[in-house]
Amino acid sequence: MGIATSGLTTTKAPFIEQAKAEGDIYIRQPYELYSEDNQEAWRRLYARILPRWHKYAHPKFLEGVESLALDPHNVPRLDDINKFLQPLSGFSARAVSGYVPAFIFFDCLRNRAFPTTITIRDGAKLDYLPEPDIFHDVAGHVPMHTDRVFADVLVRFGEVARTAARMVQEISDSEERLRRLDSILKAMARFFWFTIEFGLMRNGDGLRVYGSGLLSSYGELEYCIESPEVQRFPFQLEWVVNQYFEIHHYQPLLFIVDSFEHLFAQVDQLEHWMLEGKLDNVSPGEPNANEQDLRSFLEANLEEQDPPG
Ligand SMILES: [Fe+2]
Repeated sequence: MGIATSGLTTTKAPFIEQAKAEGDIYIRQPYELYSEDNQEAWRRLYARILPRWHKYAHPKFLEGVESLALDPHNVPRLDDINKFLQPLSGFSARAVSGYVPAFIFFDCLRNRAFPTTITIRDGAKLDYLPEPDIFHDVAGHVPMHTDRVFADVLVRFGEVARTAARMVQEISDSEERLRRLDSILKAMARFFWFTIEFGLMRNGDGLRVYGSGLLSSYGELEYCIESPEVQRFPFQLEWVVNQYFEIHHYQPLLFIVDSFEHLFAQVDQLEHWMLEGKLDNVSPGEPNANEQDLRSFLEANLEEQDPPG
């Protein structure tokens, strides 16, 4: 039986393959399965990026790393992280087997839970990985969730997803329903990408990084601030929702917000635009929602009024 020795390496973990085969989205974190190689990958990723966090990360992120007591030497246990996180913002990290269909992902945020992958990238390839892993999710995203305003942005985003599902479910023509959902999902995914994943914030005379895709990438964290190749513009909603992006290389275009309150107001605006039909015809191109993402919105159960718990 290979399970004990194969560890929890991304794309190579039998525990995860089995959970996926059984259709389980939410899983436990089988901590005993992390191999010595997995622990070593965490140590190296952490040690390498730490000085760059101090140089480029948003102060709220650095505070978050402190208050979660992230361990530089061991892959974090989500239960330990949550003990520190929950009293601060009500958020928790919730283990998932991998890909989560879009509506379920956003609705999880609305309930103050963050779907968190638990595998870790192969130690031989620390730099590039198309899938999220625990370093991206816990060392990139979760420290930001200690900030109340930032956490509220995620919850608000989850509410916008619910508004989108309600809106499209009311459209009687099935072709038109799908066309508009496709456009709205592009707008939402682009907004999320250029803020939560790749956002910059103005900080005095300089810029600081709050986007998790940047904060979990040793190379891009420096590049996004220092490189003259990167174009950086003040956040503009009409641009962001129409701007395609590609995930397989460093981002050539980034947007700057003024504060998390500013970001929250932009999410509000996104919802207003959606309700006014202004997201029904965004420009084509990446990202493209898959079948499961679309279905998750069309089949979302919107009966429940209040988030549980
Ligand atoms: Fe992410």
